[in-house]
Amino acid sequence: MSTLADTAIEILRENDRGTYTVPTKGLYPFQWNWDSCLTALGQHHFDEDRAWREIETLFDNQWPCGMVPHIVFHQMDDGYFPGPQVWATGRPVPTSGITQPPVAGFSLKRLFDRAKDTALAEARVKALLPKVAKWHRWFYETRDPRGEGLVAIIHPWEAGRDNSIDWDEPFERVPTEGITPYVRRDTQHANPAHRPTKEQYDRYLWLVEHFRGLGWDTSKLHDASPFQVVDPGFNAILIRSCADLADLADHLGEAELARENRQFAEKGIAAMETLWSEPHGQYLCRDRTRETLVDSASVGGLLAAFCAIPTDRAAAIARTIDNHGTWFRVASHPPQDSRFDAKRYWRGPVWLVINYMIADGLRRAGEVDAAAKITASSLDLIRESGFAEYYDPMTGEPLGGGRFTWTAAMVLEFLSMEQ
Ligand code: DGY
Repeated sequence: MSTLADTAIEILRENDRGTYTVPTKGLYPFQWNWDSCLTALGQHHFDEDRAWREIETLFDNQWPCGMVPHIVFHQMDDGYFPGPQVWATGRPVPTSGITQPPVAGFSLKRLFDRAKDTALAEARVKALLPKVAKWHRWFYETRDPRGEGLVAIIHPWEAGRDNSIDWDEPFERVPTEGITPYVRRDTQHANPAHRPTKEQYDRYLWLVEHFRGLGWDTSKLHDASPFQVVDPGFNAILIRSCADLADLADHLGEAELARENRQFAEKGIAAMETLWSEPHGQYLCRDRTRETLVDSASVGGLLAAFCAIPTDRAAAIARTIDNHGTWFRVASHPPQDSRFDAKRYWRGPVWLVINYMIADGLRRAGEVDAAAKITASSLDLIRESGFAEYYDPMTGEPLGGGRFTWTAAMVLEFLSMEQ
């Protein structure tokens, strides 16, 4: 009988396209940004060289401005919408025109710290370091125009949490008039009841067409977007990556890059305080177009624990997760919220990548029991329901795509933590 680790490796190999890995066959047939950076952590358990390659392929497709796109369309596949013709970004290898949670800096440090072949690791990090630093600089230049220390996303797909309740209110300001008629493909691969709605898709597409109309000039898009949301989870990932990159830069004698990234991280941590909500016991999103906090206690605000927030904040987050009271942790929205939907993508279900980052952050903050509960719950889910894209937090039912790459990668990570 094959072990969980064997199956995880088998899935990672099955979805490997040589220099990049698809998240799952059918539903996501290209390279996704944060999927790849987290996938590399899993690959590193059995093939160090291949893990570095995963991240290098992504950064080979970095834009000259510094942005790293959320999808790289390496090979045509009309099973996905919106494809390269809709994005029309004019890149040599077609890409989308928005970005995704910048987890690369964190992943580099983790791969580096664990490397058995240190000479190989140093060479690979040295080449990637300036590219990741350029991406970080791009974020603070284009997504934080007032120098607050926190960046905004301009499309829900950038957060990765596509249809979170967090965006419901800000989305009311995104129109749908005039969009080109389209046919969705995601609902042919996954149960439509577990995916975003048509109303949400119309708005996703309106934003894409709006940005395309501005020639994908990334210095203009933030101010021109009716959707500007400061997501604590997204910022925590960026802040953690800046801090980790600063450590790597120090190690490699890149003092200026170290200083710059440490400054981003310190300013970011201080600014995170403005997103704290005492009644919710966690951080919340801020709608930058209104300067109001969004009344939605999502997993984005729990993921804030991934960066070095004060320890009393981390302790409160651990309690808030306990209060969810779901059988499996961590629900992407609390079941106490009337808008919670146990099966619909990011409106309730559990995601292993999020669990991994929350557990990692809580452990660093000294919340060892809370981290251990998340790890145990994640592995229980896999044992009961297999390697799905996401799971019902009440029943553990597997949802979305199957034999999912980053789920497999996270299983290898969780198993190594349990040892
Ligand atoms: C999708 O198509 O569902 C993706 O999440 C967008 O990146």
